[in-house]
Formats: sequence, structure tokens, C-alpha cells
Amino acid sequence: MSQNTPMPERVDQIVASYQARSTALIMVLQEVQQEYSYLPPEALQRISERMDLALSQIYGVATFYKAFSLEPRGKHLVSVCTGTACHVRNSQSILERLERDLHVERGQTSTDREVTLETVNCVGACALGPVVLIDGKHYGHLTVGEVEKLVEVIRQCPCSVQH
Ligand code: FES
Repeated sequence: MSQNTPMPERVDQIVASYQARSTALIMVLQEVQQEYSYLPPEALQRISERMDLALSQIYGVATFYKAFSLEPRGKHLVSVCTGTACHVRNSQSILERLERDLHVERGQTSTDREVTLETVNCVGACALGPVVLIDGKHYGHLTVGEVEKLVEVIRQCPCSVQH
């Protein structure tokens, strides 16, 4: 991250690295999200100006792809798979226990900005179901009783990920 560079300049650098090509919008949004963990409104405004694209078009792309977030995210991203294979193996109970133990509802970020809890629809590891991803790392064959250990993993991990 280049957190020391003020936002407008940092966004300008990212846009310039793609020569402000409109076809590079998704890549630009990805880099901006990596930088700030989400897409701040002022960054989208700057992209609109620098790439000469309508703000509505940028919001259209940013809201279409689930990978983009318009809300600040937590230091850790916890993704519970609720696809069919995981659902039939009780992913719902795991999700509910995570909500309870992490003090955050699905789709939300905890007030201390430590954790964002989201649901995803099949991560391609159905044989491991039910599956939870913590900062992109798969944890499979989970039981509700193992959620406590998962929460410890989240709490103890000093890393912060870029979403
Ligand atoms: S349904 Fe969960 S990994 Fe496929």
C-alpha cells in the first residue's frame, strides 16, 4: 500500500498506469480497492474525471461485480460458502455461530473494523464442504463445534489482507 500518498494523487497514479484507457476500468477499480480495502466515493469521482467516464457507469461496474465493495471492509475477510453442497452440510449453522461469536451479521463489518463477514455461493471446493474462507484460505469439513477454533485463528492472525 502507498497510504502515505494522498488519495487523489494515488488514484491518479493508478489511472495513469493504465494510460486512462476506459477498457482498463475494472483493473483500475481492482487496484483502488486493494489500496483502500474498498472503493471510496471520492476515489470513484476522481476516476470519473481522470478517465472521462460517467460516474454512473463506474458505479454500474462497481455494483455489478461482487468482488467490489462500496463500504469499508474489515482487516479480515471471512467468507462462508452457502452454495448447495455446503448448505446441505450445515453451512447455515456455521454462519449463525460465526455471526454470534464474531459479533457481526452477514454482509457487515464489525464496529472495530477487524472482520467483514460475507456469504459466497460456491468457491469450487464442494468436496470440502462446508467451507469457510478466512482471508482467502480454505477451511473445510467444518462443524459448528470448530467455529470457536476458527474465531481464534481470525483473532490471532496479525496479517491484514487486501480485498
Ligand atoms: S457449494 Fe460450497 S464450495 Fe461448492
